[in-house]
Amino acid sequence: MKKAIYPGSFDPVTFGHLDVIRRASEMFDELTVSVLNNKGKSPLFSVEERVKILQEATKDLRNVQIDSFSGLLIDYAKEKNVHVAIRGLRAITDFEYELQIAQTNRKLSNGALDTIFLTTSLEYAYLSSSSVKEIASFGGDISQCVPEFLVDQIYNKFNTKRTGE
Ligand code: PNS
Repeated sequence: MKKAIYPGSFDPVTFGHLDVIRRASEMFDELTVSVLNNKGKSPLFSVEERVKILQEATKDLRNVQIDSFSGLLIDYAKEKNVHVAIRGLRAITDFEYELQIAQTNRKLSNGALDTIFLTTSLEYAYLSSSSVKEIASFGGDISQCVPEFLVDQIYNKFNTKRTGE
């Protein structure tokens, strides 16, 4: 059984993440998308909210499950007996950061955790959770960035509304 973990903050999940999730789910028998519970950051959505949102957004993908973790990814992966982490690469600017994390994880886990990168589809290459938050905070249009059911949940966090309403 081929298993993989896709870790991330997913605050909030975007079409870019969902594209990576769908493609990874076709490559593995079981894919666990796991939300990092990072106490250092002050997120827009709580971990519980992000888990629920991801469950809704991936409900049609049978072999995808949603979870959360805290601490080191290598410890979590070991606990789940998974040896592959998935990450999306949008542009060369992501590469240095991602390469360093991937190499650290491989070294720290004594080779037990490898990382597979999926290049995001070009149509989503510009997308990031931070830009979605920035746009939504000013009431800009985020309907091209996140699933429809999530659009108003994001505006509500900022007490804003879709432009034109
Ligand atoms: O969506 P993000 O915020 O870019 O995801 C980053 C994530 C969650 C993959 C990364 O920060 C992570 O795995 N954190 C857990 C702590 C850890 O294992 N760090 C080791 C590498 S330095």
